[in-house]
Amino acid sequence: MIHSGFFSQQKHDLENELEAKYVLTDASVLLLKNHPMSVAPFLHAMLDPVLTNPWNQFSTWFKNGDPTPFETAHGMMLWDYAGADPKLNNLFNDAMASDARFVTSLVIEKCKGVFMGLESLVDVGGGTGTMAKAIAKSFPRVECIVFDLPHVVSGLKGSENLKYVSGDMFEAIPPAYAILLKWILHDWNDEECVDILKKCKEAITRKGKEGKVIIIDMVVENEKRDDESVETQLFFDMLMMVLVTGKERSKKEWAKLISSAGYNNYKITPVFGLRSLIEIYP
Ligand SMILES: C[S@@+](CC[C@H](N)C(=O)[O-])C[C@H]1O[C@@H](n2cnc3c(N)ncnc32)[C@H](O)[C@@H]1O
Repeated sequence: MIHSGFFSQQKHDLENELEAKYVLTDASVLLLKNHPMSVAPFLHAMLDPVLTNPWNQFSTWFKNGDPTPFETAHGMMLWDYAGADPKLNNLFNDAMASDARFVTSLVIEKCKGVFMGLESLVDVGGGTGTMAKAIAKSFPRVECIVFDLPHVVSGLKGSENLKYVSGDMFEAIPPAYAILLKWILHDWNDEECVDILKKCKEAITRKGKEGKVIIIDMVVENEKRDDESVETQLFFDMLMMVLVTGKERSKKEWAKLISSAGYNNYKITPVFGLRSLIEIYP
């Protein structure tokens, strides 16, 4: 546990007898249940047997034509499983909400200008609305919609400038000035991402005006990579391969995706670690 960075060891001198004490590190503090930025729900979800069993299906999956090891293990895709099993649905939504709490505070602090002056925003695949609620609160003039599958948003109550709408992003996305995609595109392969980005383009170009799409995802560095960021990327690549059809992308891969979907300009702002915010314009 010390070697992996969960604890650090301190030696205390008790009148020349050294006693070892163990303290939490900056990383493990985030696993405390009561920490305001706790990401314990994320860890709980990732360690649930429904999400760990597919890791044991690799050899079968390599030989059959299933889209993911998750499908090999459970006979359906992750989003369908979440729709059919309220326990996994809640576990997964809580996991996403804990990550959103953590990332939102940093994004709003570092990238205020991105949201300032927006008339409306749809958080596509916005889960139970943690990120959109924070945007609606910090920018009360922005009309926010949380758009997700029915099993995620049904029954959730909005507020004055926040509504929940259910639907399928591959069919149609409610029109708005800005579309937010946080931790969405890394779940999907390139063809699926191009389809999603084209639907976003339709949503931001109705009403004769053109808005923007805001992506929050990892941007993998090709050069200057330290061991920890390589490990993070490899782990998430594996996770995406096991559970869904996606992957993490480099700057070059993002640029290709953005232009294939018919957008002309983009701007990347690093948020923390590998997480970045990408604004894209038609
Ligand atoms: C990895 S989670 C990200 C949740 C949230 N954006 C966040 O970062 O906390 C992906 C989300 O996409 C939603 N989703 C999957 N397929 C969808 C679809 N076809 N239409 C709309 N939402 C979808 C899932 O229900 C889930 O809430």
